[in-house]
Amino acid sequence: MDTELRDRVVLVTGASSGIGAATARAFGREGARVAITYRSSRDKAEKVAAEVEAAGGQAYVVRLDLEDLPSVARAVEAVAGHWGDVEVLVANAVRWGGDAPPEPGVRFEDVPLKEWEAMINANLVGAAASVSAVLPGMRAKGWGRIVLISSGVAEEGLPGPGPYGTAKSGLYGLARSLAWNGGRDGILVNVVAPGFTLTESRPPVPEFVVEALTAATPTRRLSDADDVARIVVFLGSGANGNLTGELIRDGSSAARAPHLGG
Ligand SMILES: NC(=O)c1ccc[n+]([C@@H]2O[C@H](COP(=O)([O-])OP(=O)(O)OC[C@H]3O[C@@H](n4cnc5c(N)ncnc54)[C@H](OP(=O)(O)O)[C@@H]3O)[C@@H](O)[C@H]2O)c1
Repeated sequence: MDTELRDRVVLVTGASSGIGAATARAFGREGARVAITYRSSRDKAEKVAAEVEAAGGQAYVVRLDLEDLPSVARAVEAVAGHWGDVEVLVANAVRWGGDAPPEPGVRFEDVPLKEWEAMINANLVGAAASVSAVLPGMRAKGWGRIVLISSGVAEEGLPGPGPYGTAKSGLYGLARSLAWNGGRDGILVNVVAPGFTLTESRPPVPEFVVEALTAATPTRRLSDADDVARIVVFLGSGANGNLTGELIRDGSSAARAPHLGG
């Protein structure tokens, strides 16, 4: 399958670790020009950039902070100045905040409204800001691919407080609207909702939890970051000819979270 990604300008936000880093490397293997954003781990982002280049792509590192919305547009401008307009956006960066790991014991009404604001602003408005910044270039070109990284939590919920899941479920509404708004300009937008994903950046999780989650999946295995990255690359590529406005769940997403009481 031809992904038509060679030399395409791809922006992966939050690519200094985890799913974003795996996604950047996967685009690199397709020969893309991959812009990697970080917030505090420039050294890790530089390492991912070297891996993208070793894989056959080109790399560019830029800072983006979802808690400083003007930095989103600045990052997109920096990429455009370096290579030209962004053609593929993967909105993957996340503000975990005080909501992860989720605390099942925290009551909904005890979450300060400031935390709601911060979570929605970073993880939903921040994604909208990334999308808004890349759209003019995509429209001018008549081609664009956008992949928003949500979470299984958006549908499953958590027994703990809700700002993270609420922000993540908002991405689906964003994608549904944008699918109509951007479709005629050749822009396809989809949401990936991974479940529990094995990444190098995840804090240690007790073995019994991993076993319980694994047993709850249809495939009897949890996704790793590369599994998710391959889904994202397909959706963000020319191989995706007409799939838009959809929410894609991986095998991990089907697993409930027994440790959370869900
Ligand atoms: N891992 C899972 O099991 C799982 C499951 C479902 C959904 N997801 C979703 O998948 C995506 C990636 O998750 P992950 O586990 O791979 O995350 P991760 O390894 O913790 O990486 C998070 C990335 O976001 C960046 N970041 C942190 N705070 C930021 C901020 N305020 N503004 C901009 N960037 C910021 C980090 O940069 P620095 O380190 O440089 O600060 C890093 O590059 C997220 O959207 C997450 O919600 C993950």
